[in-house]
Amino acid sequence: MSFPCTMLTVLVFLIAVSNGAKILGVFPYPAYSHYQLGDRIFKELSARGHEVTVITPYKENNLTENFKQVLLTNTLAEAEGLRKNLFTDHSNLNALQKLITIDLLGLTFCEKALNDTKVKEFLQIDQKFDAVIVHQFSTEAYKGFCNHFKAPCISIVTMLAPNWVNHQMGNPGSPAYIPETFVDFSSDMNFLERCYNTFVYLTSLFVSYMHTLPKHNELLQKYFPNAPSIYDVYYNSSLVLINSHVSLTTALPLLPNIIEVAGYHVKTPKKLPDQLQLFLDEAKEGVIYFSLGSNLKSKDLPIAKRNAFLKVFAKLKQKVLWKWEHNILSDKSDNVIIKKWWPQQDILAHPNVKLFISHGGLLSVIEAVYHGIPLLGIPVFGDQAKNLNLAEKGGYGLSVPYNRLSEETLTDAINQLLKNPKYAQIAKQRSKIMHDEPMKPLDKAMFWIEYVIRHKGASHLRSPTLKLTWYQYFLLDVFLFLFLILTVLLFFIFKFYVGFVKPNIHLIQKLKNQ
Ligand SMILES: *[C@@H]1O[C@H](CO)[C@@H](O)[C@H](O)[C@H]1NC(C)=O
Ligand SMILES: *[C@@H]1O[C@H](CO)[C@@H](O)[C@H](O)[C@H]1NC(C)=O
Ligand SMILES: *[C@@H]1O[C@H](CO)[C@@H](O)[C@H](O)[C@H]1NC(C)=O
Repeated sequence: MSFPCTMLTVLVFLIAVSNGAKILGVFPYPAYSHYQLGDRIFKELSARGHEVTVITPYKENNLTENFKQVLLTNTLAEAEGLRKNLFTDHSNLNALQKLITIDLLGLTFCEKALNDTKVKEFLQIDQKFDAVIVHQFSTEAYKGFCNHFKAPCISIVTMLAPNWVNHQMGNPGSPAYIPETFVDFSSDMNFLERCYNTFVYLTSLFVSYMHTLPKHNELLQKYFPNAPSIYDVYYNSSLVLINSHVSLTTALPLLPNIIEVAGYHVKTPKKLPDQLQLFLDEAKEGVIYFSLGSNLKSKDLPIAKRNAFLKVFAKLKQKVLWKWEHNILSDKSDNVIIKKWWPQQDILAHPNVKLFISHGGLLSVIEAVYHGIPLLGIPVFGDQAKNLNLAEKGGYGLSVPYNRLSEETLTDAINQLLKNPKYAQIAKQRSKIMHDEPMKPLDKAMFWIEYVIRHKGASHLRSPTLKLTWYQYFLLDVFLFLFLILTVLLFFIFKFYVGFVKPNIHLIQKLKNQ
């Protein structure tokens, strides 16, 4: 009995392995919060029997037959240098300045990756892949790998925004109700907000088509032998996985090849270290967890802002866990515990955590919603203000922008969040919505990647709008045609009246009177 069973298991295993696909991951961008989202996917694909090769600057120690790397060495130190001045340089940018910053960073790091000796060598190897999974963050030139290896292109978009992929995929995305990536509005915009959003929408399209895409085209021509035009690869993605979910945003139209997978990076909570577990269990008044993420360091906060936190925390009954990247923090009250690193996801899973003070990075916002914890956001740069704006409008958080951070504003926001039960209730509701799905987000990502491989690019999911020109899409040619027909018709009616009806009007009158 057990023998055939074992045989069967081995057989099933062998079939599973022999069905494994060869997948290339292109994630060279030197920002760990982005890489982490690719890494989770690649590890899972490899665990499911696929052979994965990843282009990245982040070294993996446990390389196997199913998990290989093309390790870049030249970008991490440089990116670390750029991060030094985040608080001062990036907290005042408007939507367009943010967009242009991301554009320029994207171009810089695309070129650095493509110019890397290891990547150049890799391109010369004659090999085949069944799919190429690229990081999409103003990094269009990476799509050259899909064409080079004649494999379907799958994008991972590490931001909420489907409006970053709307043109590329032919997804409807009117600025009337979809705020642009870095515009901190929700879908509910008043007249002036819609004016501003439309202005940013048109300007970003202009920048994209006049500057960004042509520049990526230059990179493509320079580094890939026999490269096609950027537009041939830009409009040719088979699938986009976006780090978004309706529990975080408003409902938005999505084509069947744009799949929301937010929450897939969250791991099943692990057991906390005994001491920390006890600390959290015993915190009857609740715990506040405070972390500004991995790019911003709270030790770099100016003294005045740091003191504001210390003074506010000293007045609280709650205990505070603070991610503080230094061994000492003078003047801290006894209810505050510091550590350079906390197991954030496992802490947020503890029922005594009542509030998460965060920079509003997308991963932190997703983890807060996943675990149903209200957010106090201190947005500094990038998409943080937008993410927190959604939390505020959604009723599960409040935002105190970095520039307005003071003892008064902090006290006020913390008191509201802890005392008004509405915030915790809505956070729990949102969490329920995030979890109420037919399959877990990571399984969903796996299903769709394997689907694209099974259907060799799944071209049946492509939107037909990609074949239309802009005037066909807006039906301008049809309207013009109808207008012409109408004009000709009116012209003949007029002619008929002037030439026939009018001269004989007395005859017609006569006939009528008889
Ligand atoms: C290395 O990866 C393999 C396959 O994913 C896993 O079985 C093994 O436990 C890992 N080893 C270490 C030391 O993490
Ligand atoms: C490409 O790399 C080479 C060294 O390998 C370097 O000399 C050159 O300046 C780099 N080009 C660019 C545009 O970064
Ligand atoms: C577009 O994608 C399809 C399906 O993956 C592929 O066969 C084709 O070669 C791609 N075209 C270009 C120009 O990369």
